[in-house]
Amino acid sequence: MAAVTRKIGLSLGADICWPLCYEQILDKLDLSIKYGGDTVGIEVERVSIEPFDLRQPCKYDVVLDRLTHWYHTSREWIKKSILMDNLYVLNNPWAVQSMEKHTSYAAMMHLGMPIPETWMVPPKSYEPTPDLSPTLKAYARLFDLGAIGKQIGYPLFMKPFDGGGWRAVTRIKDEASLRKNYDESGKSIMHLQAAVDPFDSFVRCIGLGPQTHLVKYNPDAPLHDRYTQETDFVSDDEAQILRDTTLTINAFFGWDFNSCESLRKGGTWYPIDFANPCPDSQVTSLHRHFPWLVKANIRWSVFCAVTKKKFRRTLDWDPFYAIAAKELPYREKLRAYAKIADERFETAKFEEFCAKHLPNLDEVAWEFFGTQAAKEAFRQKVAALYPKHEIELFTELFWKRVQAWREETRAA
Ligand SMILES: Nc1ncnc2c1ncn2[C@@H]1O[C@H](COP(=O)(O)OP(=O)(O)OP(=O)(O)O)[C@@H](O)[C@H]1O
Ligand SMILES: [Mg+2]
Repeated sequence: MAAVTRKIGLSLGADICWPLCYEQILDKLDLSIKYGGDTVGIEVERVSIEPFDLRQPCKYDVVLDRLTHWYHTSREWIKKSILMDNLYVLNNPWAVQSMEKHTSYAAMMHLGMPIPETWMVPPKSYEPTPDLSPTLKAYARLFDLGAIGKQIGYPLFMKPFDGGGWRAVTRIKDEASLRKNYDESGKSIMHLQAAVDPFDSFVRCIGLGPQTHLVKYNPDAPLHDRYTQETDFVSDDEAQILRDTTLTINAFFGWDFNSCESLRKGGTWYPIDFANPCPDSQVTSLHRHFPWLVKANIRWSVFCAVTKKKFRRTLDWDPFYAIAAKELPYREKLRAYAKIADERFETAKFEEFCAKHLPNLDEVAWEFFGTQAAKEAFRQKVAALYPKHEIELFTELFWKRVQAWREETRAA
């Protein structure tokens, strides 16, 4: 039996709170896992940004990445490490780079998900380039925006096809405001999407590997209250639909970590935004849901590192398309898609692994989230985002919410 060490790298940007908690809980766990004839220890390190030789080996077994979508030196280092060094990374960098909202809508519409009617319109204005004028003169058809609005119906949402972070999202109530907003939309390529309106529930389902967590969401609340503190807001069957939907999307796109927003109207859950492959992980928005995220990160990264889970370098969509082509009710198709996800995420093996090798994680994390070290991690994140006079107030608010979670889970 050999003693081996697996290295997990954290590729971070403005993240403060979750890595501090992740590192300290892992430290307390002091893992020494008997697996495959070896005793496996875990080492965690923050990935630095520096020049690299493409042929230089990668010292990490698993990387949790938060930079790929905007910091391209790190993205390209990750790509080379997957291609050359067998790295397992959350998330697949090619899928983050090329699968924007638009692709995710199109693919999931094809699989039968009830995505609201969505149109793409050419942009209002362009960066001038030598080929632009002949191209548009020859091929750009004049179109009647009002007719498209009429076909979709009001209210509708205008939002960038590759959106994120609520950038340039507008709720449009009539033709006049559609024309006005389009005229002001500049160079962005926009979607016009039928509003799910009125909806009676809004849920964000966070997926991390095969783990999912449902949060009732309130888009009208200030940022610190959008993730609500409600529990038990869906039936078991609805929870299964939301889980299956999220795992299907995540397995399809090779996103181990993503969140899916769905709105319920007339008993149907309509997914409206599910290309979020670097979801919010901060205590300042997640508060009582934050411990779930930190624990889920630990479980999945340790599982991938210890079992040397093979990274899927290609996405392989054919099995999903084969199910889509069958004459089956949508609910059965969705179950079948989710089964593919369970195979790809190795759900059964993962659950067995956690039960056997991480049996005290819940307890260790529960203790940790009651310590001053946890509170200090919260404070640091709050201090980075809030004005000085609000730091104490908001640190206390998030702290209290996490303590309420501890009280409830102690009673359970
Ligand atoms: N079709 C829709 N029906 C009802 N509400 C919608 C619809 N599309 C968007 N919205 C509302 O607009 C908000 C922002 O839209 P969306 O989530 O698509 O954009 P985003 O830029 O990806 O936002 P984020 O990254 O913050 O999730 C949603 O949270 C929701 O409140
Ligand atoms: Mg959204």
